[in-house]
Amino acid sequence: MGKGSGFGKVILLNEHFVVYGVPSIVSAIEQATVALVEPFDGRGWIIEDRRPATPGYKEEKLDQQRGSIERVLKAAKIDPSRNPIKIVLEGDLVASSGIGASAASCVAIARALSDEFGLDLSDERVNEIAYEGERAYHGTPSGIDNTAATYGGLIWFVRGTLNVIERIRIRKPVEIVMGNTGMVADTAAAVAGVRERRERYPEKYDKLFKAAEGLARDARRAVEDFDLRELGRLMDENHKLLQGIEVSCKELDFLVELARKHGALGAKLTGGGLGGNMVALTPGKELQERVAKAIEKEGFEVLRTRIGVKT
Ligand code: MEV
Repeated sequence: MGKGSGFGKVILLNEHFVVYGVPSIVSAIEQATVALVEPFDGRGWIIEDRRPATPGYKEEKLDQQRGSIERVLKAAKIDPSRNPIKIVLEGDLVASSGIGASAASCVAIARALSDEFGLDLSDERVNEIAYEGERAYHGTPSGIDNTAATYGGLIWFVRGTLNVIERIRIRKPVEIVMGNTGMVADTAAAVAGVRERRERYPEKYDKLFKAAEGLARDARRAVEDFDLRELGRLMDENHKLLQGIEVSCKELDFLVELARKHGALGAKLTGGGLGGNMVALTPGKELQERVAKAIEKEGFEVLRTRIGVKT
């Protein structure tokens, strides 16, 4: 049996802006999706998806998941009509929007195929194959999610003809809370909406994009100096820009405000927005617990995890 895994992720700064080449900061989180691949006594391929998930997530993503697996198989040059396989997905990453669930599963499947068929894929190749799989979920992804899912750790990512992927050093891992609105979001639609409005309001969007670029550079410095207050402040600023490009929603804004009120150093939506998850910067177990409890008290699911964990 072949086995592989891919990390979940949290974007600390500049989702959406990253699609247009604005620098962004992403971290893998501690939770991952694991894929198992084994020969199957039947035709083609089948999947058994045992991942924990936000209600409705798996059903809503079913077609995209099928398309994605077809793409991953093709990119890895595995022909299931000759080698029928069963793919099992499991692991502790809760499949929900904004947490990199699709990218984590693409990376896990690519690695499990490599293991099962002796492909000896490098991380670079796994990342490329996972990117192909991601295209079934959101058309023209920037590649930030599959990069975090493949390499882990904290990453400076700039999309380009050749993507810039640099590891950011951090003194020690930092606790965060991710709050889940419970709403399954459509990343492709969110990205398309930004594209349309950017064309319609070029001046307004130019300003927001310039501001996003400045924030990314300041945030990288704050991480490297381990100035978490400054990083939190910049995340708050980033949330304002994300509101400006209209990818937040009232549930995300509510959770962001709630986290700040309970002491988070900063909070923002994370991922595609319009539902899905938010992130709060909560260094130390005590602050993390306080913010997590406040969100849970309002009836939302939370994830207590860390950024900057060495992998
Ligand atoms: C989704 O996790 C991040 C987006 O910026 C889309 C992308 O970068 O492909 C919204």
